[in-house]
Amino acid sequence: MAILLTGGAGYIGSHVLKQLLEKTEENVVVVDNLSTGNQACIDTLLEIRDFHFAKIDLDNLEMLEMLIERFGVTEVLHFAASIVVSESVQNPLKYYKNNTAKTTGLIELCVNFGVKRFVFSSTAVVYGEPSVNPIDEDASLAPINPYGRSKLMSETVLRDASNAHPAFKHVILRYFNVAGAAGDIGETFSDATHLVKVAAQAALGARDALKVFGGDYPTKDGTCERDYIHVEDVADAYLKALEYLKTHPSDTFNVGYGHGFSDREVVETMQRVSGVDFKVEMAPRREGDPAVLVANSAKIKRYMGWEPQCDDLEHICKTALAWEKKLHEN
Ligand SMILES: NC(=O)c1ccc[n+]([C@@H]2O[C@H](COP(=O)([O-])OP(=O)(O)OC[C@H]3O[C@@H](n4cnc5c(N)ncnc54)[C@H](O)[C@@H]3O)[C@@H](O)[C@H]2O)c1
Repeated sequence: MAILLTGGAGYIGSHVLKQLLEKTEENVVVVDNLSTGNQACIDTLLEIRDFHFAKIDLDNLEMLEMLIERFGVTEVLHFAASIVVSESVQNPLKYYKNNTAKTTGLIELCVNFGVKRFVFSSTAVVYGEPSVNPIDEDASLAPINPYGRSKLMSETVLRDASNAHPAFKHVILRYFNVAGAAGDIGETFSDATHLVKVAAQAALGARDALKVFGGDYPTKDGTCERDYIHVEDVADAYLKALEYLKTHPSDTFNVGYGHGFSDREVVETMQRVSGVDFKVEMAPRREGDPAVLVANSAKIKRYMGWEPQCDDLEHICKTALAWEKKLHEN
């Protein structure tokens, strides 16, 4: 019996991997093509305890099949994907291929080789421009960019696969804006566009200025509002989802804190915790950015007993900054 974790050298996958290694005794097999993930992170996590790592692309179905058979994989946590909204607008086919087509190939393999439980990393972006915030899981699904559509299509494939093959169950986790770090690992991709990471880079002088995209949104201060969730709370949701699926049917859950912070509030918090008054420039809105995205996460709390431990923007900014400093020093 083993858990296959795709994208385990990336930001969120590596934090889930860390918790699996620390809190469970499960055998874990990790695959990643290292396109945005990083080998050093795998090496750090191998110090906790042993797991199998294969540097392969998700389209290498032959190798995936071999790993599923050899290790007796019964559960899959699927993170591997392309995730930059603006890039998906410029290059949509990359997103439909890497996110939807390759996920479909993986799901087919799982069904054919008796995988029982599959946890999928989806996103608040599938809700598009929601008419009501906080958003619950039944809100209409109308993503406004190819990244969101590529994820929504994968959700549909997964639901149809479970309907047709009831022994193959899934949980879809739609999480909001993940940020922060867990000490010795963090977000390594230097071109990342996530605001908290970019603000930490600006505080350390790795960027000349931080750009805030859009100051004319219908929000409290005109900048976008997002539900920032610490990566360790997201990781905990994966461990809970695996347990949940052992005794419950397939389902979909939001993961967020239920309240939002504006871009300006994030920038000011990072300036405060870093003590650096870095330069901030206002830039035009980015295509595909909704004004507000805040989760209603009552369902995951009620059904999985998930309780956030790190719901604190200062803590999120401090841990992101501490990680960024570590990256800087190496
Ligand atoms: N970061 C967020 O705020 C956020 C929010 C909601 C959902 N998600 C989802 O979480 C998942 C992980 O996101 P992340 O922030 O850790 O991104 P990331 O880029 O850090 O991690 C993705 C990992 O997948 C690997 N990868 C990509 N394509 C691959 C392929 N074809 N074959 C093998 N490996 C491949 C990359 O090398 C990387 O290690 C994604 O599915 C993303 O859609 C992220």
